[in-house]
Amino acid sequence: MRVIVTNTYAEACEIAGGMITKVVQDDPKATLGLATGSSAQAVYPYIIRAYEKGEVDFSQAHSVNLDEYIGLTPEHDQSYRYFMNTNFFDHVNIKKENTFVASGIGSEEEIVKEFRSVLANSNVAVQLLGIGVDGHVGFNEPGKKLHSEAHIEVLDPSTIKANARFFANEDEVPKKAITMGMGDIMRANKLILVATGAPKADAIRELIMNDEIFVNNPSTMIKMHKDCVVIIDKELAELVGYQA
Ligand code: GLP
Repeated sequence: MRVIVTNTYAEACEIAGGMITKVVQDDPKATLGLATGSSAQAVYPYIIRAYEKGEVDFSQAHSVNLDEYIGLTPEHDQSYRYFMNTNFFDHVNIKKENTFVASGIGSEEEIVKEFRSVLANSNVAVQLLGIGVDGHVGFNEPGKKLHSEAHIEVLDPSTIKANARFFANEDEVPKKAITMGMGDIMRANKLILVATGAPKADAIRELIMNDEIFVNNPSTMIKMHKDCVVIIDKELAELVGYQA
């Protein structure tokens, strides 16, 4: 695992955006593994800028997203489909039919089946990741066990609390989500995790300060990946006691 420490968070996102852009420049047919949340949101503008400058073409690219809330329609302004359209897809020339965000509505059994089948047929070139305050990646929450494949996850109270900032109140935050499993994430050819902010310090410390894997911090599993980059700003690095 490689750790990159930047002066500012914007710089961290610029590096992540540049790495994702490069994957598509090198292979225009690449499948991107994409993420939502405020960290990912800060990465997309750098990719969009490269597209606007004519440096990258998404016309043959595909994408698959990490997760989606159960119970939200694609039109709901807090659904991850809506997030992806407004923060990325609508600004580049990727074909919407080549993008996949799992459905948040319908039979849980069917939507898990559909997600698993899409993943079985995808070879994700690069997976962008954020990290939850509890160490979740995608929506793989800490617990006694982790799942390898796509599945429905009951959200941790700390996740509901953290994500309540996007909703009118905590009660409106969905209680469940569909997410790629840890195995799906680990199968991507490259992983890029970006993080900032004091609330993430404990989770990031366990990720970058030792070689241990904790089931109650799912992010720690990514240190086993052969091409994994964690990009954090100086402030967070100092908080966790990391020295480059
Ligand atoms: C949500 C997503 C995660 C993401 C996390 C981090 O919970 N499901 O995949 O890592 O948000 O969010 P933020 O970047 O807003 O802190």
